[in-house]
Amino acid sequence: MKDADSMTQDNGLRTMKDDLRVDLTDEQVGLFREKGFLRLGRVTTPQEIEWLSGVYDQIVKQRLGVTPEEMTHRLLGDQSPEALVTFLSPEGIVPALKDTLFARNARTIIARLFGVEEAAVLAGWRLFFKPAHGAETPWHQDAAYRPPPHRGGSVWMSLDPATVEDSCLHYIGGSHLGDLRAHYLHHHHLKTDDLDPAQAVACPVAPGEATAHHCKTLHGAGPNQTGRPRRALVIVCQVTGSA
Ligand code: NI
Repeated sequence: MKDADSMTQDNGLRTMKDDLRVDLTDEQVGLFREKGFLRLGRVTTPQEIEWLSGVYDQIVKQRLGVTPEEMTHRLLGDQSPEALVTFLSPEGIVPALKDTLFARNARTIIARLFGVEEAAVLAGWRLFFKPAHGAETPWHQDAAYRPPPHRGGSVWMSLDPATVEDSCLHYIGGSHLGDLRAHYLHHHHLKTDDLDPAQAVACPVAPGEATAHHCKTLHGAGPNQTGRPRRALVIVCQVTGSA
């Protein structure tokens, strides 16, 4: 637990708190409600990305014995890597995550997109990374993983460049307005085939940039065609109260 303790101290976040505040326009909110996803641009500072990257790698190392980067070397010549390595609730290991600019902006963004007060937004963290040469993330709706009501969305931020080659997210616009599709289990992930992949829109992002999506928006990611891991931090939000 020594690592976790040291991670919660000395994060230097106090000084960068007000460096970047995300303010969405009415046009962006309208676009999200129509399409079910939105490219947000930068949602935190380069300094915080550096801190988050360090915390991220320590959490992965604590759990797996290797960082995402070290895993790349270990995998060379080995069996195929997992499509997506997932950790739930990293904020339970490093509570300082909840005090970041990214967390504050994500909550503000979701409240604005759903037209509610920030107090109505319940947030939880996920840590996802796609190993070097990892297979595709199957098409799914996040809502398939949990019981209704399906009111909420995620802010998905990459710590690494996420281009089409690096397995950025792809979305099907307007899919959040339809019903929940039938899913089945596929290599530990839920998958649906009830969609037309030709309608997909790729959303490449730079480190520190994010996308938001509704929990019913169909999304997936292609295989990682590069020799480097693609690390993402995701804040999953549920909106409570009446509509
Ligand atoms: Ni998802």
